[in-house]
This record gives sequence, structure tokens and C-alpha cells, in this order.
Amino acid sequence: MKLRLPTNLDVKNKTVLVRVDYNVPLKKVKNSWRVENDRRILASFETIKFLQKNHTKIILMTHLGRPKGKFEAGLSSEPVARYLTKNLNIKTSFVDDCIGEKVQTAIDQLPAGGILLLENLRFHPEEKKNDKKFARQLANLADVYINEAFSSSHRAHASTEGVTHYLPSFAGFNLQKEVLTLHKLMTQPDHPFFIIVGGAKISDKIDVLENLLQIADGVLVGGVVANNFLKAEGVEIHKSYLQDTPADLKKEGVNFVKLADELIEETKTEKILKDGYIPLPKILYPIDVIAAASPDSTQTQVIDLIHDMKDSTHDKNLMYLDIGPKTIKLYQELINQARTIFWNGPMGYFEKTPFRTGTVKIAQALAKASARTVAGGGDTVDLIADLELEKNFTYISTAGGASLLFLAGQKLPALNPLTIGTRKHYS
Ligand code: 3PG
Repeated sequence: MKLRLPTNLDVKNKTVLVRVDYNVPLKKVKNSWRVENDRRILASFETIKFLQKNHTKIILMTHLGRPKGKFEAGLSSEPVARYLTKNLNIKTSFVDDCIGEKVQTAIDQLPAGGILLLENLRFHPEEKKNDKKFARQLANLADVYINEAFSSSHRAHASTEGVTHYLPSFAGFNLQKEVLTLHKLMTQPDHPFFIIVGGAKISDKIDVLENLLQIADGVLVGGVVANNFLKAEGVEIHKSYLQDTPADLKKEGVNFVKLADELIEETKTEKILKDGYIPLPKILYPIDVIAAASPDSTQTQVIDLIHDMKDSTHDKNLMYLDIGPKTIKLYQELINQARTIFWNGPMGYFEKTPFRTGTVKIAQALAKASARTVAGGGDTVDLIADLELEKNFTYISTAGGASLLFLAGQKLPALNPLTIGTRKHYS
């Protein structure tokens, strides 16, 4: 996939509409909303600086949260404009709509190299409907369009896909970096290549597993996702969380325990060679867990899933809420022998201190590893940031859902129009 990038010739002295993903956490402090995490904002800087150097008028547009097609005070993008100006020293004006006369006036008043952030696109229901008229109204604001929102590229919305029908369209530098990194992971990883998958929903991860299992040497599973594999193998999971047949997929007869079982079956003859000679199954799930009566409980116990399960006095009301010490040790050893690792999803209920160790230890092991380490997904990336380990990873994706769908081999609707060789005519 070769993306069309903006060059000096394309953007010099023009007005450029940049779709960014400033869908960032906001916190209310003394009646005003503050940006809590600026990772996604910083990711757009290379493109913004490039445009400033080329004296373009820069119009930034983003969605924020999931408003129901109308104004919601806590979801305005105005605090982001303030943050850019005050905290990041990037002077940014704000206009409280994203189409119409007052937006046009704000653009007319913008100096060359000036930046204007538009109000949350999703305050207009037409954005998510990919409404043609709305897309054209956005396009009418500028001469050129740049998509710098890889993390929203799985959405065929007016600002990500619709607008490309009406403007010459380019990929932002960070979007390109995301695509190249993930593409390399899928096609030419250095081996051994391990995937570490956790989190709450196997439905988000199963396609990625299926796709990457063809190229990866092994998968280390944790979190609620692991319970599907444990159950598929006949291991008792008691009252643990499990996503087996989600309500929205019930009609289609989807059962994720069955799908997990199929993956185990398909990879039965393939082995991970630990230390070069100890054969382990290609899909590894916990051999021990930290269990408790509920996520709020501070009374925990380690259950060895190989030995303790024969114990009939075992408490049947337990939930498995983190990977145990033996599993951590095994995963750490495999991380140390890997040359490429992709991680998405916590190993346990890490929001609660008693169930945080597994995820923290895996993050620390990855930070120390000599492998190329790529991480993605909101919770995973937030934890890496909390632990101040970001710099120790080779690459941290700004995306959650978009990176998973990309790695699952799906075509993202907003990327196609940015690809060289696609659509050249605009109406
Ligand atoms: C994200 O946070 O993953 C992106 O901003 C997309 O948000 P959405 O899932 O609300 O479309």
C-alpha cells in the first residue's frame, strides 16, 4: 500500500483541511474541561509543522467522543484548541461549528500558517452518516485534504471518506508511519514473532489472531480473552468473565469458545520452541491465575490451572482476574527470546491494584526486551504511559479499533482514497 503524501508543490500557500483524531480524554477541573492525555495531539505535529513551513492555512477537524448528533458540553473540541495554544505553544483559534458562514469567516481571517480547530464534527448527525452534502460542505472550506487520523480510518464518515470525493486527498505523516509499521509487522516481522493479546473482548481480537497466526510464531493470551481458550480446552473457569455468544451476534450463531477451539485445533501441530528446544503450543494461555470472589475483592489466591484443578474443595465461585506468577515467568522468558512482538490488551483486571501485576510485568518485560515492540489499544497504551515506559517501545500506535482491523487484513475505508493509483477525479 503506497500512500499519497503532501509535497511542497501540493500545499504551498493553500488552505488545507486536516482530519486529525483529537478524540482525547477530557477532565472537568473547576468548571472547565482539560485535556488529560495529548498523545494523539502530538502525533499530528509533523504534519502541522510541515504545513506551517509551507505557509498554508491549516484547518483541523476532529470528532470527540460519541455525542448523539448534537452539542454536548463535555465533548466540545474547544479545550483542545486551548491546550494546543497554552500547553503546546501552537497558537490555535477555535470556531464553534464545522461548516457554514462563521467557519468561512474564521478561515478568511486566518493568516498564512495559521491554525483553526473546528468544533466536534459529530455534533452534526451527517458526519457519521457520511452524508454527501455535509462532506461537500467540509470540502468547500479548503483546497486540499489530509487525513492524519489513522485511528479513525476504519470509519467511513464524511470527514474521513466522504470528503475525499471532493478534494485532492493525501495521507498525513503519522498516518503513513502507522500504516508502514503495521504493514511491516504483518508481512516481514523478524522471527520469532509473538503476539500478546488480552483485554475484555475476544470479538475485537479473533480476526487479528486468525490473520497474524499465519505469520506469527506464537500467541500469548491473557485477560478475559484467555478464558475462551481455557474453556475451549475444558479448563474450569468458574464465575470468570467470558464473552462466548455476544447478544449482537447471537442470531448468526457465533460462539467464541468454539472459535477459540478451532484456532487451537488448526495450530495443533505447530510449536513454539522455548529456548530453542522445549516445544510449547503455538497458542499459550495461562497456566496459573490470580482469582478472587469479585474484582472489588482484596482477598486473592493463586490457582495453578494444571495442578489445583483436581482439588475438589476448590471454591467454585471464583473469578480469574489476572495471570499468575508462573504464567508471567513463562511469558517473560518468551518475550526475551522474541525478535518482534505485538501487544494489545491487558492481562487482567488491571484497573484494580490486586489484579495489576500481570499487565505491569508484561509491560516491563517488553520495555526491556531487545525485540522490536509494537503496542496498540487504549488501555494498553495508557498503562505503558502511566508506567513511563513509552520510550522503551519501538512503536506505540495511536489507534485501537483501526489498528486491529488493519492487522486483521481488512481494508479501511478512509485509507483507500489516500492510496496511490486510486481515485484522481473530484467533483
Ligand atoms: C478511537 O478512539 O478509537 C477513535 O477515535 C475512533 O473513535 P470511535 O470508535 O468513536 O469512532
